[in-house]
Amino acid sequence: MSQHQELIQLQAQAENELADARDEKQLEAWRIKWLGRKGLVPAAVKQIGSLPKEERAAYGQAVNQLKQAVQAAFEARQQQLKEAAMAAELRSEGFDPTLPGRRPQIGRLHPSSATLREIAHIFAHMGFEVYTARDVETDEYNFQLLNFPKGHPAREMQDTFHTTTPDVLLRTHTSPGQIRVMRERYPEPIRVILPGKCYRYEQVTARSEMMFHQVEGLVVGKNITFADLKGTLQAFVDQLFGEGRQLRFRASHFPFTEPSAEVDVDCILCGGKGCRVCKYTGWLEILGCGMVHPNVLRNGGYDPEEWSGYAFGMGPERIAMLLHGVDDIRYFFSNDVRFLEQF
Ligand code: PHE
Repeated sequence: MSQHQELIQLQAQAENELADARDEKQLEAWRIKWLGRKGLVPAAVKQIGSLPKEERAAYGQAVNQLKQAVQAAFEARQQQLKEAAMAAELRSEGFDPTLPGRRPQIGRLHPSSATLREIAHIFAHMGFEVYTARDVETDEYNFQLLNFPKGHPAREMQDTFHTTTPDVLLRTHTSPGQIRVMRERYPEPIRVILPGKCYRYEQVTARSEMMFHQVEGLVVGKNITFADLKGTLQAFVDQLFGEGRQLRFRASHFPFTEPSAEVDVDCILCGGKGCRVCKYTGWLEILGCGMVHPNVLRNGGYDPEEWSGYAFGMGPERIAMLLHGVDDIRYFFSNDVRFLEQF
């Protein structure tokens, strides 16, 4: 038999035996026999050296082809066995990869949280830092340091949940955080928002809950004016409701700001013509604000001769109601998934 024929036979034999390898173990035995260091294929390659010079080139070429073919056949068989093993495993687990998937229920942000985040995001872009103050406050911080003396009638506007500890209460607004930031940051200038929950002992109605959120804003610096407040709020409203909203500042009263204002935006639904949502006034009230009262600056450690500032407070639930046309605040905290799912 010529050497060439020998090689052809060798290859055929290798391939036949390969087809008989039915699992990893048999495949490995085959590999050692044929391709291992002392295997039949390397042995055939080594024979080059024992051939007369003139036969070497032709034989070398043929034996190299053989080696490559056998190696390729091995890899193909290896892949085949792997896939067969995987398919067998899937079958034995009763898993059918061709069935359509079942979409998992994915949670989402509560509309109050989503609105809070949107508000925080807009202010963050204007350089405001988020400051988290406490929910449980003292009468001193919630009222006295904010210029509500004991017995002030404005306290009644904010009927309070008291704890069994005298003078410890649930904050009725986020404004006590103003004093906490000032006392912590003096003598630095301040630009913060204070988001969080507030509590009022009130009749629950479509318009008022006993727990709700507020976002307080506080800026303290040198030469801060009402114009800064107006510009900041206009920029905020343009980003929240869309460019070109009209703002209206109505004189108002809060003990801790002077002067004080309530701010209305032209109705985002009817554009000011008058509709059910704006009660045919064309305006929607969105927040309270004013210049920080000198007594409050002083209580925070800032000399009102040298420093000035503004503050504002808004309710994200109220804003979410306007943005999404929700007509009852009680939906926010009644945990009805049919409501929450819509956001
Ligand atoms: N704290 C006021 C409220 O709860 C809102 C407010 C905050 C007004 C800051 C002026 C300045 O109604």
